[in-house]
Amino acid sequence: MSDSTFGAIYRISLDEPEDFWGAAAEEIQWTKSWDLVLDKSAAPAARWFVGGELNTCYNALDRHVEGGRAEQAALIYDSAVTGETRTYSYRELRDEVALFAGVLNRNGVGRGDRVVIYMPMIPQAVIAMLACARLGAVHSVVFGGFASRELAIRIDDCEAKVVVSASCGIEVDRIIEYKPLLDAALEMSAGQPTCVIYQREMLTADMQPGRDRDWDEEMALAAPHECVPVLATDPLYILYTSGTTGQPKGIIRDNGGHAVALKWTMKSIYDVDPEEVYWAASDVGWVVGHSYIVYGPLLHGCTTVLYEGKPVGTPDAGAFWRVISQHRVASMFTAPTALRAIRQQDPDGELIPQYDMSEFRSLFLAGERCDPDTLAWSEQQLGVPVIDHWWQTETGWAIASSCLGIDNPTVVPGSSGRPAPGWDLVVMGPDGNELLPGEVGALCARLPMPPSALPTLWNADERFVDTYLSSFPGFYETADAGFIDDNGYVHVMSRTDDIINVAGHRLSTGALEEVLTSHSDVAECAVVGVSDQLKGQVPVGFLVLKVGAAGTAEEVVEDVVALVRSEIGPVASFKSAAVVDRLPKTRSGKILRGTIARIADDEPWTMPATVDDPVILDEITAALSTMGYPR
Ligand code: COA
Ligand code: AMP
Repeated sequence: MSDSTFGAIYRISLDEPEDFWGAAAEEIQWTKSWDLVLDKSAAPAARWFVGGELNTCYNALDRHVEGGRAEQAALIYDSAVTGETRTYSYRELRDEVALFAGVLNRNGVGRGDRVVIYMPMIPQAVIAMLACARLGAVHSVVFGGFASRELAIRIDDCEAKVVVSASCGIEVDRIIEYKPLLDAALEMSAGQPTCVIYQREMLTADMQPGRDRDWDEEMALAAPHECVPVLATDPLYILYTSGTTGQPKGIIRDNGGHAVALKWTMKSIYDVDPEEVYWAASDVGWVVGHSYIVYGPLLHGCTTVLYEGKPVGTPDAGAFWRVISQHRVASMFTAPTALRAIRQQDPDGELIPQYDMSEFRSLFLAGERCDPDTLAWSEQQLGVPVIDHWWQTETGWAIASSCLGIDNPTVVPGSSGRPAPGWDLVVMGPDGNELLPGEVGALCARLPMPPSALPTLWNADERFVDTYLSSFPGFYETADAGFIDDNGYVHVMSRTDDIINVAGHRLSTGALEEVLTSHSDVAECAVVGVSDQLKGQVPVGFLVLKVGAAGTAEEVVEDVVALVRSEIGPVASFKSAAVVDRLPKTRSGKILRGTIARIADDEPWTMPATVDDPVILDEITAALSTMGYPR
């Protein structure tokens, strides 16, 4: 299709959203049709397909089994760390999911109940998610790289009835025991959920009698459970993401809008057809994993790949190309950091020609800004369009992208494409004035947002309004800064809050600072994100010690690094900190984190007039240089 077709479709999506998404909703099977496509008056934000009823698991599995895809591969599990590959047909996956829904139901889970899933990248994680959807229960997946405290916060916040976990994960060649982390979380937790544990063959976890149940034993006792219809506006899942405090935000995804939007994206954005193989090399603990390992491809009748391993080291930097070739992947989605890791080890792409990637058509990137150099390298090495697209946990799908199924896109390096249909983007100045093309400001979406975008936060309507809707009335504030160029392409440049992106993982520096200040010797601290050639950004901490601190500077640094690992988890990649005498501050006492980050990146910076003591800045510069920054 042509560019003008895209323009026309985009306009209709904004001018007649009810017609546009109402037509897309015909692709989903409903047990009861909706009364209203869009209820703009709903509080705190608009709701889609009000009054409609459906079951997301039915649409992802049963519908395909009944419609002739029973023997088609639904899920290919490919573990580079164990060497195992297993394919589930749609029938097999449906049967496993129905049985595990029976397990959950035997353990008291029904419609609306919450289930936390803390799992490595194994099929049982997907089965557990879909089993919740089948029952009308609400899953909340917690990424395996989070430590016990983060897990406990999430279990408590959503008041989980059941936690599903496994004995271990595997990080390249290290076995990570999950069960002790879960046990520690439950010691901290106020609730006492039942646990269902999948025992992997490489490690058997100790079980706590009365509380813990064995996955296999439970499956042997359970009867398959049918799909329970739910309201389109009922929650399908809660996914916690970093906020500006240690208390994460529970992003809610509804059932109806989510199913409609995700099914629509598979063709319109990714240009993938049913029966083709789609692979998102992410983790089910992140939104990309929810949307494009599990729901999107299955709703569309594709084969999805669940890959357990890293882009490098399992066994080498050709791992991704091996998967694409072996499973005949048509389209792939990953984070730029993965490509940087591959490029570091195979700069000339020498491993690529070893693999037949003739069916591979496109590579999509998100999670962080893709630097033009990595984009150009990938395009050159792979010979397919490499598309940077921008989205957030909050939206569940792309806010801006090249839409391969509608468009003949021009890839503009440094941009993440044009606003996707349904997204009316504007750039706002500090006074709430709309900026002109090319001017940098706050990227905002005019309300209502399209289907699948968060309707609110779990048990926190007020926080939802305060965080996203109050700075610019009538708009959703993305908390990303950037500009839209003369041709309508969106350039996302940085966050406007304290969030940093570490290897495509989203972290709050405020939450890290809370952990650092909990150390008895720390008077105050600042954590900033500094550029890293592999991970994009990494957090670096600056500590001011209390007078009469018990530990030496070296001891405190060692302590806080260990503390972040045990309190937040290894995913924080917090390895560098330094003790300084004072931190640079404004006259009103605000720590100048931006100034520190700029020194770390060696970007031009001017000493703010309020910092009248250049010694502080020299001290920060020296501390950074001992830690190897700028890199
Ligand atoms: N369970 C337990 N630990 C985990 C984990 C999990 N699921 N995932 C990561 N970790 C650990 C890692 O082992 C590492 O520990 P270490 O400090 O002891 O080495 C730490 O958390 C940091 O992990 P990560 O940031 O992933 O770094 P890495 O060096 O292991 O790998 C990359 C770097 C770039 C290869 C890797 O981050 C990657 O593939 N990223 C892609 C990102 C992605 O999928 N993003 C989702 C959006 S698309
Ligand atoms: P997450 O919620 O973990 O998906 O992270 C969302 C954040 O990642 C966004 O708000 C951006 O800051 C960043 N991000 C995601 N995709 C892109 C992209 N294509 N370009 C720039 N930043 C991105």
